[in-house]
Amino acid sequence: MRRVAIIGHGAIGRELATALLRRGGYAVAVVLRPGSSRAGQVGPDCVTVHDPAALAAFRPAIVVEAAGAQAVREWGPASLGLGVPLLLSSVGALHDDGLRAALVEAAEAAGTRLYLPSGALAGLDYVLAARAAGDLRIRYESRKPPAAWADELRRLGHVERPARPVTLLEGSAREAAARYPANLNVAATLALAGIGFDRTEVSVVVDPEARGNTHGIAVASELGSLELSVVNRPSPDNPKTSWIVSRSLLSAIEQHFSTVQLL
Ligand SMILES: NC(=O)c1ccc[n+]([C@@H]2O[C@H](COP(=O)([O-])OP(=O)(O)OC[C@H]3O[C@@H](n4cnc5c(N)ncnc54)[C@H](O)[C@@H]3O)[C@@H](O)[C@H]2O)c1
Repeated sequence: MRRVAIIGHGAIGRELATALLRRGGYAVAVVLRPGSSRAGQVGPDCVTVHDPAALAAFRPAIVVEAAGAQAVREWGPASLGLGVPLLLSSVGALHDDGLRAALVEAAEAAGTRLYLPSGALAGLDYVLAARAAGDLRIRYESRKPPAAWADELRRLGHVERPARPVTLLEGSAREAAARYPANLNVAATLALAGIGFDRTEVSVVVDPEARGNTHGIAVASELGSLELSVVNRPSPDNPKTSWIVSRSLLSAIEQHFSTVQLL
């Protein structure tokens, strides 16, 4: 049995646990906060874990975070301390250089790795190949429908359904990940793959015409250029999260266990 522990049982965690159990050959533990309202939603096929000792007792071969930036802080070092890889969905948490250094140090000390998946993004292979090219410029645009930004629109005094696009942010990936940590994981992944948080340009737009959660990526360098647009359907359980993210995590887990690795 391939033993996988998943931190969080929201939209991504639930979809991932269900997909792993459907595949077969996986034993799944779900890490919940004590007293979590999600406890009743954990299926009988999963082990429920509330603390680091119980996580260690489950003996996971890999731990997956699907719970948010705070969970990366709470669970990251202890999980890496088990000597098994930690696959992060909340990559935006790594805009904090101190946290990133602490996680890298914990992984090195335990002889393991931090895995960062594509998530809702595409084109990471190209960005990694081009990262050392001269004159490299990387731009990312997030365009989501108003439902994905309802709280923020309210907070900024906008109507819930604006008639025209509203630009929430124009700045660096560091500013974007710091201001919207739950929404800007893609910008953070792109920054880490390419030219870093301060040089990656980001714009965040609420677009009433958006057909889904749209990620636009433009890369230009001496090697050539890449322009792509990914239109993701929102997760049925969370309009801020793209449905494909749980599949990206599933694919990363399968790669971890696979003899043949696609890089
Ligand atoms: N990399 C990407 O492309 C990408 C895309 C979308 C979302 N994400 C990340 O994935 C995370 C999860 O997304 P979601 O749609 O499943 O969110 P969600 O809100 O539906 O679920 C998150 C769950 O985690 C639980 N949780 C929070 N802190 C916890 C902790 N310390 N320990 C255990 N459980 C905890 C919450 O109670 C909630 O049930 C988001 O916070 C976001 O950072 C990444």
